[in-house]
Amino acid sequence: MSLFWRIFSLNAAGLIVAAALLLGPVTVSTPVLPGEALVVVGGLAALLAVNAVVLRVGLAPLAALGRAMATADLLRPGTRAEVAGPAEAATLITTYNTMLDRLETERTTSAARALSAQESERHRIARELHDEVGQTLTAVLLQLKRLADRAPDELRDEVGHAQEATRAGLDEIRRIARRLRPGVLEELGLVSALRALATEFTAHGLTVRHDVHGDLPPLPQGTELVVYRVAQEGLTNTARHSGADRAELRLEPVADGVELLVRDNGTGLGARPEGAGIGGMRERALLVGAVLTLEPAPEQGTDVRLRIPLTAGSR
Ligand SMILES: Nc1ncnc2c1ncn2[C@@H]1O[C@H](COP(=O)(O)OP(=O)(O)O)[C@@H](O)[C@H]1O
Ligand SMILES: [Mg+2]
Repeated sequence: MSLFWRIFSLNAAGLIVAAALLLGPVTVSTPVLPGEALVVVGGLAALLAVNAVVLRVGLAPLAALGRAMATADLLRPGTRAEVAGPAEAATLITTYNTMLDRLETERTTSAARALSAQESERHRIARELHDEVGQTLTAVLLQLKRLADRAPDELRDEVGHAQEATRAGLDEIRRIARRLRPGVLEELGLVSALRALATEFTAHGLTVRHDVHGDLPPLPQGTELVVYRVAQEGLTNTARHSGADRAELRLEPVADGVELLVRDNGTGLGARPEGAGIGGMRERALLVGAVLTLEPAPEQGTDVRLRIPLTAGSR
């Protein structure tokens, strides 16, 4: 029965009983006799109880819908409110679920667009850093070298320092360019790129062990980039937030696909809210139909796991 008819018939029943009592032969004495009072109070209580039960049952699906709406998260898609209750509630819940379908699809397409724009922009900046700034600094380095050969003795030290600084700047630029655009991914493939990443993050009291299987099933190019970026953000977080001295980067085949694990022995995630980094990981995972989980590691620290099913649509 629809919510309208439930509420209407409850109200109607109460009013009809009241009217029938007014018109009917029933009388109440003044002062009221105990027996009469008992009947009136009992009748009223019964009516109120039925009213409360019917409304509670009828409105429960709406309360459940409210909870589902409050906890909906487009980055963890797939959860839908259960369609139940009277017609109006069921229609509302179905409409909400359809709206979620639409929003999730839109979010995925716009995220794909944004991420591919971001990747190509990184590509461009990396190329410019490498080609423009890198070339200029290389030219400066050569000039300094010529200068050093002809400089009088008292200036040679200073020119040497300038050479050092320029060389450091050049290294830094190459490092930034490499981080912006994982060229190794294109040149050497995912396995070597991940091993290089582990080596790159092994510094300043952090040791990153890598266990990257060489015999992985071939992954689509887009998926490889997602794996690389998730590993990169996972290790960046380990280095930046976890206080860990050991981390592990693992990529291995599993029953239904491939799994990436970034594990550290640090302080653990705690109750801190997820930021743009973790949000970005989730978004990239969604793009290739992968599942990202962040949970406490078995002993201490954090496990970031990316499970890529190989049947899932990959771009
Ligand atoms: N491996 C980790 N160990 C401990 N805390 C972490 C780890 N990874 C993430 N966090 C916590 O989660 C927060 C959100 O991370 P993230 O979304 O990457 O944002 P950001 O790195 O920009 O702060 C971090 O600020 C940090 O407090
Ligand atoms: Mg981060």
